[in-house]
Amino acid sequence: MSDLDAFIAGLPKAELHLHIEGSLEPEQMFEFGRRNRVDMPFKSVEDVRAAYEFSNLQDFLDIYYQGAGVLQTEEDFHDLAVAYFDRLAADGGVHAEIFFDPQTHTDRGLPFSVAADGLLAGMRTAETKHGISSKLILCFLRHLEEDAAFDTLRAAEPYLDRIAGVGLDSSEVGHPPSKFANVYKAAGERGLLKVAHAGEEGPPEYVWEALDLLKVDRIDHGNRSLEDAALTARLAAMDMTLTVCPLSNHKLCVVEDMTRHPLKRMLDLGLHATINSDDPAYFGGYVGDNYRAVAGSLGLTKEELVLLARNSFTGSFLDEERVALHLQAIDAYVAAN
Ligand code: HPA
Ligand code: ZN
Repeated sequence: MSDLDAFIAGLPKAELHLHIEGSLEPEQMFEFGRRNRVDMPFKSVEDVRAAYEFSNLQDFLDIYYQGAGVLQTEEDFHDLAVAYFDRLAADGGVHAEIFFDPQTHTDRGLPFSVAADGLLAGMRTAETKHGISSKLILCFLRHLEEDAAFDTLRAAEPYLDRIAGVGLDSSEVGHPPSKFANVYKAAGERGLLKVAHAGEEGPPEYVWEALDLLKVDRIDHGNRSLEDAALTARLAAMDMTLTVCPLSNHKLCVVEDMTRHPLKRMLDLGLHATINSDDPAYFGGYVGDNYRAVAGSLGLTKEELVLLARNSFTGSFLDEERVALHLQAIDAYVAAN
């Protein structure tokens, strides 16, 4: 391991953009498929991995929703979450704000409670096992109608004391944030924080809409904001956190190759960027792999890597005191390394 890789591994960090269903490793897909007697279109783990060649977001989503079909019980969701947190702990992660897609599960007949209770149990296990704190964010699927998002918000009602916020994911182009303005307003009235995927494949206008119509607290991805100088200036002025996902961008052909990834440019423009894994089982790596990939391909300095780790806490939904403690831990780590 190079010195910089070792430095990255020990650097305290938070992950703010992680779809828990996207942490389903092929081995686990078979394990859950077998124990739940779910038929799968793949014969082996190698077959599954070979199918992970995507030319855009939709290619990936088709296979991701299919994979989620093996998740049937609370135990599955618990085990899925714990396996993710084990990986996060190995990567120096100490906090995560994880997405789940309730509609992917309720639309195939599982009650809302199966995913929610299983994930919340997994989050408690991670706290005990690794001392990792976490928050849960419910994502609405944007290819479905706003009425369906309202149904999901109603189903979540008994859990709102344990859900930090709402997000917006799935097929971006053709499904602008404006489609969800009413349900975001309702979520805000219930005290939920708000994030939305915008500017991954969709145009800068979608990022404007996420800011002005959904009134989001964070933008997920946000890459295409850089096409609009006024938008970039606005994001920098308001210190809006962008949850950037380098390996995802490469796998989904949002960037041509990692040496052209916009992360360094984002930092140079004063944007509050963070590094995240998105769907690590599908995109070739967990949060540490994402740090190492950009450190290598963009030639990031130690100082830039530390800034990115600091941004992951200052952009999190943790309270100020906890953020301050994590920043102190980073300072102590930097002083010792
Ligand atoms: N983009 C949109 N929707 C998603 C993604 C993503 O990267 N991952 C899981 N759902
Ligand atoms: Zn995502």
